[in-house]
Amino acid sequence: MNIREVEDQYILQTYAKKPIVITRGEGVHVFDDRNNRYLDLYAGHAVCSIGHCHPKLVKAISDQAKKLIFFSNSVYNDLRAEAAQLVCKNAYPASSAVFFCNSGTEANEAAIKIARRATGRPRVIAMETGFHGRTIGALSVTGNPKLRGDFPQNLDTLTDFVPFGDFEAVEAMLSPDVAAIILEPVTSVGGVRIASRKYYDSLRELCTGNGTALIFDEVQTGFGRTGKMFAGLHWNVEPDITTAAKGAGGGVPVGMVILNEAIRSAPAPGEHGCTFGGGMLAMAAVKATLEVLLEEKILAHAAEMELCVREELGNIPEVLAVTGKGLLLGIELDCPAKPVIEGLLEKRILVGGCDKPNQIRLLPPLTVQPEHIREFAAALAEVLAAARQLV
Ligand SMILES: Cc1ncc(COP(=O)(O)O)c(C=O)c1O
Repeated sequence: MNIREVEDQYILQTYAKKPIVITRGEGVHVFDDRNNRYLDLYAGHAVCSIGHCHPKLVKAISDQAKKLIFFSNSVYNDLRAEAAQLVCKNAYPASSAVFFCNSGTEANEAAIKIARRATGRPRVIAMETGFHGRTIGALSVTGNPKLRGDFPQNLDTLTDFVPFGDFEAVEAMLSPDVAAIILEPVTSVGGVRIASRKYYDSLRELCTGNGTALIFDEVQTGFGRTGKMFAGLHWNVEPDITTAAKGAGGGVPVGMVILNEAIRSAPAPGEHGCTFGGGMLAMAAVKATLEVLLEEKILAHAAEMELCVREELGNIPEVLAVTGKGLLLGIELDCPAKPVIEGLLEKRILVGGCDKPNQIRLLPPLTVQPEHIREFAAALAEVLAAARQLV
């Protein structure tokens, strides 16, 4: 049996997979089992933000694996202390404490639980196209009906869904029993979009006035993806609770909830926990990833690369718009994205799709260089031209 057959037989079939076997990565490239090289503009779903197998990250986790792979939160640890301090100092100005877990969905579950505990209120306002994870609690605030399906019928009765970017809709839903408003500051899976500065400002003001926690799900946007360490910094809007995961460990699983001073004492000791949260391998990864982002000035680079993408794609007539921020970008096409994504794969370029049928998503390693973007633009133009010939 070949590798694909073995996976298909023994792994639950919940993913649509590309027909390739990836065995190794280096920088912005990954390689298949026949040593073919692919330009990775997808980063394993916005995860490998500092590039595949960055030497500093590899060294940090290898060294740590020889020293101590894991011990739980029932003891103190020097590396956990350093990583937590580094996260709080580099997140939002009022970030005061962090809770470590393993994934984005766990982080969002914790955020909602903490907001309910802090306010003593039950309800949550979330976005119709939002995505916050696959567990029942995270799904209960995930607006996207394709992802929520029929699962949490019993839980989403506590959620009101409103269109992203529509402040009046939020205002209309707000009541004294709303614990939190949760949103991705730049939406991604539901289609890449940002709202106006006024929208973020108004949400902040509304939450403060109503004693409601503002939760930014920065699972995708956090750790530099949009060209700032966290996306709200683009608008100087600070949430009460921030969740992060994906890029936070450079590929090593880690999730986190970052809390400001006012809300950090909401959960009493013992009220929340996570066995693997704050484990040493993950902490080594978080510390190394943050250091690389800062030392190599990768945030400013990501912002520059956004401009490069916009410039290179500006000349392609079938590209109707480029949406998003930094290196979380949506490319709006005048035709369906799926065959274009497949055409790019044939040219050994990996990109993502999303819920908008005409949108390609770019989520490359933040270390991507102008020559890679030019290579992508040339390939995209060719694939689109070939698609036009077929019509
Ligand atoms: C914005 C956002 N929140 C939460 C999640 C869930 O994260 P995880 O798959 O790590 O549970 C995702 C995953 O794509 C996401 O994009």
